[in-house]
Amino acid sequence: MLEGKNILLGVSGGIAAYKVLDLCSRLKKKNANLKIIMTESASKFVSPISFETMGRCKVYSDLFEGSHESVHHIDLPKWADVFLIAPASANTIAKMANGIADNFLTASYLACDKDVIIAPSMNTNMLKNKATVRNLDILKSFGVKIIRPKAGILACNTVGDGRLEEPSKIVEYLEDYFTEKDLKDKKIIISAGPTVELIDYVRYITNKSSGKMGYNIANEAKKRGAEVILVSGPVKPFEIEGITRIEVKTNEEMKNTIERYFDSSDALIMSAAPVDYRVENPSDRKLKKTGNNLELDLIENPDIVKYFASKKNKQKIIGFAAETDDLVENAKDKLKRKNLDYIIANDLTKWGAGFNVDTNIASIICKDNIEELGIMPKDELANKILDLLR
Ligand code: PMT
Repeated sequence: MLEGKNILLGVSGGIAAYKVLDLCSRLKKKNANLKIIMTESASKFVSPISFETMGRCKVYSDLFEGSHESVHHIDLPKWADVFLIAPASANTIAKMANGIADNFLTASYLACDKDVIIAPSMNTNMLKNKATVRNLDILKSFGVKIIRPKAGILACNTVGDGRLEEPSKIVEYLEDYFTEKDLKDKKIIISAGPTVELIDYVRYITNKSSGKMGYNIANEAKKRGAEVILVSGPVKPFEIEGITRIEVKTNEEMKNTIERYFDSSDALIMSAAPVDYRVENPSDRKLKKTGNNLELDLIENPDIVKYFASKKNKQKIIGFAAETDDLVENAKDKLKRKNLDYIIANDLTKWGAGFNVDTNIASIICKDNIEELGIMPKDELANKILDLLR
């Protein structure tokens, strides 16, 4: 998403400027093009050389540096796809709100007709000060996008709002910003992770699913503008803002939760690994060891995706096939038996595919086509799957 994007980065004076070196490094790893402007105060906190090194680009700070060929504070905003100011200090915010152009950064802001995103960072009282509150409101009314600072322990030892948003989150914000909202009118239900079925008060049956596949689909769908309902089995969740996430444990809970949203949805993507069997009569006490083998009566759980495919109207239904043998054959059989529109077949035995890894190797199968994909990060596969819903 950020590959080849021209990001003009303005750094104003604040201790959080050191964190923006990490942001530069992350943006370069995503192959974004950077040009950097620093205010004089910013260069008191971090040397411009550090920014030149991490951003692999020239750092501009002298408003009067230029030549007959280029007026930098005019040309840099022209080059940019977006102007990001991080950290944005109270002083720089005040100048921007009032049209003061007394340094390279603020002059470039005035000359900029591209979108401007600011990530403020300052002491809590400075942030709460009525002047700053008013200035931020003014910038918002100008259409400037604001990445709100977070609460925490600040460098001045205050505990409160004012911490620069984490560089990883700023990168996510930019990725979101550049993503085309082609799923804007879609409501998509995505299931993720395993389910669990109790054996007794302390023991249960589950499987190795980490939820990574499903959470990646939910995250990418949200970036593409979809309304996302994520129905998640017990996993270590990662935060996705702006979606509805419902945690469930058993198959029955997963099915009932999907039922609540299904009729009004446009698609169901079942990337969860629901447990196929449950104990017929789980004990509500801890079973004691007897010295003998333990026999459990397991009964088959209802097939969730098959149930919803049987009652679909407008919905597209996408299932997964997690296989260790005869991948394509078994996946095709599931596609037909469960009446799915597509099935994403992954071979669990391949290195870099399946459970609890950040990559997957999959084939997208429908009635009359198979698309075999190589190894790729789960977020990339997520986008290939979401392309099926456009
Ligand atoms: O979560 P990760 O660690 O990232 O791992 C990802 C994954 C391997 C779990 C994922 O890529 C995957 O393959 N998910 C489907 C797992 C599975 O249950 O596959 P299956 O072949 O047993 O089931 C076929 C389809 O029926 C699946 O869409 C499944 O969600 C669904 N199903 C299965 C059983 C059941 N009782 N109800 C169902 O709806």
